[in-house]
Amino acid sequence: MARVPQVIVIDPDRESSAEIQKTLTMLGFSVAGAAGYGVEAFTLAFQLRPDVMLMRIEEPLVRPVQTLSRINDGLPDLPIVVFSTEANIRLMRQSMVSGASDYLQEPLNPEELEASIIKVLERKEREGMRRRGELDDPIPQGTIITVFGAKGGIGKTTISSNLAVALAGEAHQSVALVDMDTRFGDVAITMDIPVERSIADLARNLDNVDRQSLKEYLVEHESGVHILPAPTRPSDWRNLTARHVRDVVDVLAQTHDFVILDTRAPSMKSSRPPLRSAR
Ligand SMILES: Nc1ncnc2c1ncn2[C@@H]1O[C@H](COP(=O)(O)OP(=O)(O)OP(=O)(O)O)[C@@H](O)[C@H]1O
Ligand SMILES: [Mg+2]
Repeated sequence: MARVPQVIVIDPDRESSAEIQKTLTMLGFSVAGAAGYGVEAFTLAFQLRPDVMLMRIEEPLVRPVQTLSRINDGLPDLPIVVFSTEANIRLMRQSMVSGASDYLQEPLNPEELEASIIKVLERKEREGMRRRGELDDPIPQGTIITVFGAKGGIGKTTISSNLAVALAGEAHQSVALVDMDTRFGDVAITMDIPVERSIADLARNLDNVDRQSLKEYLVEHESGVHILPAPTRPSDWRNLTARHVRDVVDVLAQTHDFVILDTRAPSMKSSRPPLRSAR
């Protein structure tokens, strides 16, 4: 948004239109023109091709909705913010179905008006970038957080567990907590949960696991966090490769907003990697 955004105002009430134009100018937008409903509105929109259209919608709905739909049909990329003295669902729904991007209730609050215009402009810019291939397609994947520390006993498991509980409880996110400590995984002890199945069992059966059966491998903590414990026998890690771990994390990230990995401290004595690399 390098230049000043051009806005047009469609409001049959001239006094209110003048007020809104004054507010827009005060907010730093350029008012390119103003009109009432019907043909004069289409003509203005088609001739000026503004960045945003601001439009009053009021009962009776026939004329404003007809104007809105027709402009939206002809200029589908033009973001339209509607405003009204009413805050009823019928009006809002009708506006959205006819192509409005946002709905504001009068009296218009300048800050709310500014935020709405900026938001619809940003959305339009993002859509343009996506169409031009300048944005990657969104990947449906949760955020993966690895908790790592260069030493043992410095609070990695404490941080992982508390972070998981806070994300689930306070931020209302779905969270998977994975015990990736290949030496002595103690997430289950810290969270006080029983271990029946571990990451090793899930990795072994991953080809047969779907969204539903995945739940059978996870223990649901009272906080709502889904825990994938470490094997109770550390030797079970031997059969796991890095690829297994990556696949497990991928599956969890496709079904949770956050996947938190608690890891082991690197071994100081041996240069042996903690897991065999994938073949
Ligand atoms: N911020 C803290 N202040 C004081 N004690 C802490 C803090 N964080 C963790 N501890 C304590 O330090 C000990 C080690 O913590 P924790 O098990 O979380 O570390 P770790 O890095 O996961 O250890 P390991 O390398 O063995 O996996 C625990 O007794 C824990 O209660
Ligand atoms: Mg630990």
